[in-house]
Amino acid sequence: MNEPMNEELQQAICDLPKAELHLHFEGAAPPAFIRGMAQEKNIDIAKIFNEDGSYAYQGFEHFLSVYEAATSVLKTPEDFARLTRAVLEETATQNVIYAETFLSPDFCGGGDVAAWREYLQAIEEEAARCESEMGITLKGVITCIRHFGPEKAKAVALCAAETQGDFIRGFGMAGAEDMGKQSDFAYSFDMAREAELHLTSHACEWRGPSEARDAIMDLGVERIGHGVRAIQDSSVVDLMLERDITLEVCPGSNVFLGVYPHLKNHPIQAFRDAGVKVTVSTDDPPFFHTTMNKEFQDLVQVFGWGIEDLNEMTRNALNAAFCDETTRDTLMKRLPE
Ligand code: ADE
Ligand code: ZN
Repeated sequence: MNEPMNEELQQAICDLPKAELHLHFEGAAPPAFIRGMAQEKNIDIAKIFNEDGSYAYQGFEHFLSVYEAATSVLKTPEDFARLTRAVLEETATQNVIYAETFLSPDFCGGGDVAAWREYLQAIEEEAARCESEMGITLKGVITCIRHFGPEKAKAVALCAAETQGDFIRGFGMAGAEDMGKQSDFAYSFDMAREAELHLTSHACEWRGPSEARDAIMDLGVERIGHGVRAIQDSSVVDLMLERDITLEVCPGSNVFLGVYPHLKNHPIQAFRDAGVKVTVSTDDPPFFHTTMNKEFQDLVQVFGWGIEDLNEMTRNALNAAFCDETTRDTLMKRLPE
């Protein structure tokens, strides 16, 4: 057992400005928000909640289906604007100054570009209001969903290509890693690259190192979502170094979902020792009972990191952020020296 952390250090960690690159938009929805929406619309999703009000699921596949059930109560652009505020209010409590969120047109108009534009406008306008009220900058990474298949991904990539701009900065892939191959989605990633979007893909959360190699070689990603299992193959770690890949590491998610039995078994420090750039994010915070403050506190407790290690995570995140250079420079100035 680790000693409890003294209050001064806890407060110092809470006070640090933070940045996270890997935050699923609907996965960040507070359960009370989703329950409220369901009540308003008379939709019965009681079975996705525990008695204490938290999300109820067992294992990754079930998590994905509960995620989709929760998302199903969000119907209109206005609902997604309200979600934007709910997510940013939570995220801002962690002193997060910059977040990138995965947005899925599959859940917002079913991949139709005209419908997607309406959802996007509602999300972007609310994010701008939140930025001026709370000092948190949000950017979007449009994400296809692997288990929905390559054809649906093409429609999503078109939505991304058509709405690339100041807010939509990247294209990525989430979903069940055991379905198909990274290269099945090459057409969509090529379309996104041609539209000058930055690229990331979930890989090596569940499958072995070849998934990260494929995401790098077949899709041309700059970042990898998770990437943690690549630690098992030094040639893939070398490839990450050679291509200057940044990992979007979500330690609490990996432990909660059972990728690792305990944080002490997690390879985040091993990647740092190998010279790979890592960042820290929460993935789907209420689903995994985590926050950025908790992630940072746990890393200090388990790996003996200090404040400077945590600030390095934030600098890495801003350096690998898909935002424009002016935004990056402005945010960097808000970090401690
Ligand atoms: N969608 C939401 N969270 C995810 C995760 N951890 N892995 C893959 N797809 C996801
Ligand atoms: Zn994820």
